Amino acid sequence: MQLNLLKLLADGEYHSGADLGEKLGVSRAAVWKQIQKLAELSVVIESVKGLGYRIPGGLDLLSELEIFSSMDPVAGDCLQNFTLLQQVDSTNSYLLATPFGTGASVCLAEQQSAGRGRRGRTWVSPYGKNIYLSCTWTFESGVSALEGLSLAVGVALIKALEECGLSGLGLKWPNDVLWEGRKVAGILLEMTGDASGQCRVVVGIGMNVDMDVDSSSAIDQPWVNLQEIAAALSVNLVSRSVIVAKLLNHLLLLLEGYQAQSFSAWRDCWLQLDVFSGQEVSIFSGARESVGVARGVDESGALLLERDGVLERCCGGEISVRRRVAP
Ligand code: BTN
Repeated sequence: MQLNLLKLLADGEYHSGADLGEKLGVSRAAVWKQIQKLAELSVVIESVKGLGYRIPGGLDLLSELEIFSSMDPVAGDCLQNFTLLQQVDSTNSYLLATPFGTGASVCLAEQQSAGRGRRGRTWVSPYGKNIYLSCTWTFESGVSALEGLSLAVGVALIKALEECGLSGLGLKWPNDVLWEGRKVAGILLEMTGDASGQCRVVVGIGMNVDMDVDSSSAIDQPWVNLQEIAAALSVNLVSRSVIVAKLLNHLLLLLEGYQAQSFSAWRDCWLQLDVFSGQEVSIFSGARESVGVARGVDESGALLLERDGVLERCCGGEISVRRRVAP
């Protein structure tokens, strides 16, 4: 990984091949080769004769130092392992394959080659533009203690973004973070261990921060970046590292307290953020479609659908919800 070269180019200014070579202690030809490798990572690098190379708009690289200095020490106390990677297949897969202890382990990456979304989807993960973060936690009293956890993570995520000055964010069941109907972040929970005893959960969060349209061609639903939201609200967005720190402040305390608190401590906040409340929706479970009015969630985080005056509980990882468009 050409991290030193990226750090030099991160300022968005032009740097000549000779200057870069001198700073990196390599030849101009070696600089050129490294530039080609970065292009393979889809990092956009402009090359202009007589001026050199530059990354248009610069890069806001993640910094471990900045993350830790911006974190609340109380949340920091919950953290046992922290790994910042340049590239990985998936931060969730990385943590699932790593036998860490019982406290929180966090993995953050600048790029994922096989980022995973809910319902078997791919999570588009270009280098240096978004946030790909996973955090693992061990629960002692089985999977039933985790009911509603993925919804509570959505609430924690929005609280963190509100602290960054962003507003107007909402949740689509179970935990898609939306702004004006477009998705800005998604959450994927995965579990291993004993269903009735000790089990380990990996919480994976993907957040669009400054992704360009070219990288997003594989996304099949309306999406938005935090930068676009900040611009619409006339807010200067903080760095990705500060966003990560605020996210961890909320997420780590949520995980630490969840077994004792359960979803009931988070339900009211979730209901306030519910974007589909009172609206006619379609619920898809495989090929089956049920139509009804969304009536929030119950104490376990199951979606409540009103059909012919009767409330039905809908839950399960394979369900998707869509606002119903009149036929
Ligand atoms: C969704 O489909 O809405 C969930 C997306 C979750 C993506 C994140 S990115 C970090 C972590 N690693 C993964 O492979 N997936 C999650």
